This record gives sequence, structure tokens and C-alpha cells, in this order.
Amino acid sequence: MNMKGQNKNSLFKASVATGSARGRVNLIGEHIDYNGGTVLPASISREVTVGLTPRADDLLEISSSRFDDTVSRSLTEPANSHWSDYIVGALSLAHKKGWIQSGMNIVIDSNIPDGAGVSSSAALIIAIFRACLALNGESKDPKDVAILAREVETDFIGVPCGIMDQMATSLINPGQALILDTLNNDTQTIDIPDTWSFITIHTGIHRKLSDGRYKERAIECQEAKELLKQNDLCHITPEEEAELTSLPEILQKRVTHVTSEHKRVLRAIEAMRMNNMALFGQLMVESHKSYSHDFEASTHEIDLLIESALTMGALGARLTGGGFGGCMVALVQKTEKEQWMKDFAARHKNVWEV
Ligand code: GLA
Repeated sequence: MNMKGQNKNSLFKASVATGSARGRVNLIGEHIDYNGGTVLPASISREVTVGLTPRADDLLEISSSRFDDTVSRSLTEPANSHWSDYIVGALSLAHKKGWIQSGMNIVIDSNIPDGAGVSSSAALIIAIFRACLALNGESKDPKDVAILAREVETDFIGVPCGIMDQMATSLINPGQALILDTLNNDTQTIDIPDTWSFITIHTGIHRKLSDGRYKERAIECQEAKELLKQNDLCHITPEEEAELTSLPEILQKRVTHVTSEHKRVLRAIEAMRMNNMALFGQLMVESHKSYSHDFEASTHEIDLLIESALTMGALGARLTGGGFGGCMVALVQKTEKEQWMKDFAARHKNVWEV
């Protein structure tokens, strides 16, 4: 069965149950969700929809509107570095949890770009879980669903990610940002002031979290935690911060990003509450500098795009997500958004609004 290019309605007609989930853009707070920090993601309008039809055997027949081939996998197979791994991982966990009892025919339609820092994989897993629950007419606490979705990424795919993407996709409503304290998974929502727009823009530079660089940073943070004998880097005291000089230089830089980023997020939340978007924008700029200089998760090309966005009048701009490519986010007045984006895209041929 070839699904590529099929219209969405006809794609899901034959499915017994469907589930959808949106991507997310992180407004500020990068690589601190596995260091005990608070993060501030918002949802984007792009989404993935999954249709499920139970089978009599334990096979998974997977078709996606993005790929030509239909893939045949089984519920008991390990990951094998194929795009369908996320589906196998999600459905085998759903099977273990008793949410499904057999193999499935699965159809997928998504307009969330992959490898772009906007949580295409978390959205796919959450959409699958939602479809599984819909099959049984069940509902679960969205936080529990997010925790299981992260398990697919960490245990099945092998990416040591934090919990931000899964919580964001599982919990956020459009027009709001999620204040997520990753120390205890406490959440609050905050309305994004409606005269402002956060534009999510693909930089034209592609990367995958599973390509190893995300993991490298997570390992560096882990090494720093062990050397500093700390469980979470975001809450070290000023006295402990003074001891950072005992760390190898590269780890000092990573911890400097993490601790300063966490402080910026807390200030950014207050700025948003007070509708002080000039301050919010300034914190985004500082966040990007720290992400690029201390965390070394940006690239020269991306730094130039950020500079250009600011020169063109954005109040703030930064690389969003796991780093090394994908999307940036820019803060502009809502009334200027359309023209601003047109001008930016005219100046930079490879960028596009997500
Ligand atoms: C990826 C991970 C998240 C988070 C961000 C960086 O999106 O999945 O857990 O660490 O990178 O902030």
C-alpha cells in the first residue's frame, strides 16, 4: 500500500481509531529539562495523526504519507535505526501496558518536520498512545502518557532526552505556554500575550537527536553532576557555583550554560506574566549566546541567522530544541509578523516558517 501524497480523509477512513498530537516550540530553557530545570515550551499548529486497525497476528504494517514503502515489523522487534522504530517502540510499550492486544495496521500523516527541534518524535509517540487509548475508549492522565512516551525514546530508541517534549505535546493548548518544573513535573500554563507572535522558522539546517551530539552534551552534564556530587545542576548554590573552577574547562562551560539558562527561564516567565516582552526578547538573545558560546550547540550559520533576525527588528531570537540545526524562534509584534517573515525569507533562501 502506498500512502504517499494521499489525502488525509481517505487515509484514515479505514482506521478503527485515530489519535493526533501537535509539535512544540521551546520558547526558552534548553538542555535543562534533564538537569532539574524549569522550561517554557508552547505548541505549534503542525501535527501528526495516526490511524490504527487491529490485526489477528502480532505484525505491524506501517504506512506513512511521507514515505513510499509500507514497512512490516513485529511487536517484539528491537530498534534497527529505521524511521519506523518510534512506532514499534510505542506500540510494543502499549502492548506491555495492555492498551492493545495484537499487531496493527498503522497509517501516519504528519506535517511536523523531522529533525527540526519541534518534537516530531514525541508527537508521533503521543499520537500513537492516544489512538491506542481511543481503541479501548480509555483515557489516562496526560502526564502519565508523557512519562511513558519518554520511556520509548530513552529505553527503546536510546536517546537520553528529558521530559519537556512529551509533556509539551501531551499537555499544551494553542495560545499558551507550559511552565514545566522538571524536578517534580509540576505544571502551570501561561497565556502568551496576544499582541506578540513567536515565529518558528526552519533554518534549513538538518540534524537528528539520535546523531549523537545531543547525547554528548547529556553525558557532559552527567560527568559534571558526578564531579560536583550534585543531582541537578539547575539548583546549585552560589557557593557551589564558585567551585565550578575545579571542573575541566569544557564542563565549566556546559554548567555555566545550564545554571544561567535556568535563571533566564525564571525571569522570562515573570516577564511574560508582566507582559514585558522587551525583557523576554532580551532573555532569548542571552539564551542563544549562552547556547552557542558555552553549550556549543549552535553553528556559525545559525548564529548569523539569529543576528539577522534581530537586525530586522525581532525583539528576541534563538535556536530552539536539542541544538545543532533545525528551528529557530523569533519574537515579533503580531501586526508585523507576516511582513517580517516575508522579508526574512526573502533575505535567507533556505529558511521557511514552520
Ligand atoms: C530535545 C529533548 C528535550 C530537551 C531539548 C533541549 O528536544 O528531547 O528533552 O532536552 O532537546 O532543551
